[in-house]
Amino acid sequence: MRVHGEVRVPGDKSVSHRALIFAALAEGQSVLRGLLDSDDVHSTAGVLRALGVSVPPIPARAPDRGAAAMDVMRVHGVGLRGLRAPDGALQCGNSGTTTRLLAGVCAANPFRSRFIGDASLSRRPMGRIARPLEAMGARVTFEDGDGLPMTITGGSLRTLRWQDDTGSAQVKSAVLLAGLVSGVPVSVEAPRPSRDHTERFLMALGADVRTTPGSVSLTPPDRLRPFELTVPGDPSSAAFFAALAAMAADGAVRLPDVLASPTRDAFIRIVQVMGADVAIVPGAPTDIGESTVTYTVAPRELRGVTVGIDDVPGMIDELPLLACVAACAEGDTQITGAAELRVKESDRIARTVSNLRAVGVSADELPDGMRITGHRGRGRVRGRVITGGDHRIAMAFAVLGAATGGEIVLDDPACVAVSYPAFWVDLARVTSP
Ligand code: S3P
Repeated sequence: MRVHGEVRVPGDKSVSHRALIFAALAEGQSVLRGLLDSDDVHSTAGVLRALGVSVPPIPARAPDRGAAAMDVMRVHGVGLRGLRAPDGALQCGNSGTTTRLLAGVCAANPFRSRFIGDASLSRRPMGRIARPLEAMGARVTFEDGDGLPMTITGGSLRTLRWQDDTGSAQVKSAVLLAGLVSGVPVSVEAPRPSRDHTERFLMALGADVRTTPGSVSLTPPDRLRPFELTVPGDPSSAAFFAALAAMAADGAVRLPDVLASPTRDAFIRIVQVMGADVAIVPGAPTDIGESTVTYTVAPRELRGVTVGIDDVPGMIDELPLLACVAACAEGDTQITGAAELRVKESDRIARTVSNLRAVGVSADELPDGMRITGHRGRGRVRGRVITGGDHRIAMAFAVLGAATGGEIVLDDPACVAVSYPAFWVDLARVTSP
């Protein structure tokens, strides 16, 4: 299959959630461009509205008009202490980021908030944020295990030095936001660095933030100033098209204006190690001091690779996709140190391996990862993929099917709307003859 053209991937999901949250907590009007218009970001917007912030509808993406024409969204922030008690439960949909980051915000407010979500989100562990928030003085209760529904009774919180053993950016962000809104210093130490958008926002908005690899401490400011931001393209969405181009028979795909964070770039580095042809041209920095790049990716003969714990945080959401790329690479690929995949939108180790087998690829589960035996020049894959409503499983297998000219049927193609509603349109554009 030949690929061609350009995909301007939608705005970064992690940055979009944070842009809305920081705009809501700032004093005055922030101007956001290119915000991701997807189900997960709608969940964050909806919860902020329920907390009394006037958040306008997120403008639809304008993919073909380029960055300059991106629709503008203005959010009038209520200040660090301006949220009001919600009337009903806070609906977080499928979004772990909405739940965990806004739990940190709510814990620092003198009201009760009840977080609910869909079946997948309700199965995900929330004890990891309950523990530090309780150590700061909030009360967190669950009705069943440590999943949603979760009720937080917040108030003024104490300072905290938290040792996090999950390595989760969402846990780190929950603690930083709780400290910010309560006005108390906090610090988080983790085994390895994770995505650092929260601390970059805080720094860009004038907070005193100190970081070392794996640790961050915040002395909160009295108020946050409003800001302007053009959200860069999401590297986790760009990864699907980079993978498609790497596995294709011929052609190339150009991916402009993608966020290039050292905490998010492991997938592109690893596909280069596997042999893909990736050209990287630096772009303009974002308004919160992050880099952007344009990737052009073309196929080459791929070989298997070994991915261990040090590379995992920088590609945590791309590991199911890497497993699909591995199916087209010569030899074995082994991924370890990725037990966190079992508590994502689905158990992504079990889902990825069972679906690879269902389409004819040899793969095995490991307790903390997987092993895939690939073939260069793999023929068509065919079979039925059970996504479990997991957007990243759906897109990873769609790309494997498209690249090999295979016949893959997904049980729930619409679940891509969680992070990339226009995925099918973009895929058709770069693969149509
Ligand atoms: C995210 C952090 C990651 C990632 C998720 C988004 C964020 O989760 O998997 O898709 O925006 O902070 P963890 O922090 O739980 O690893």
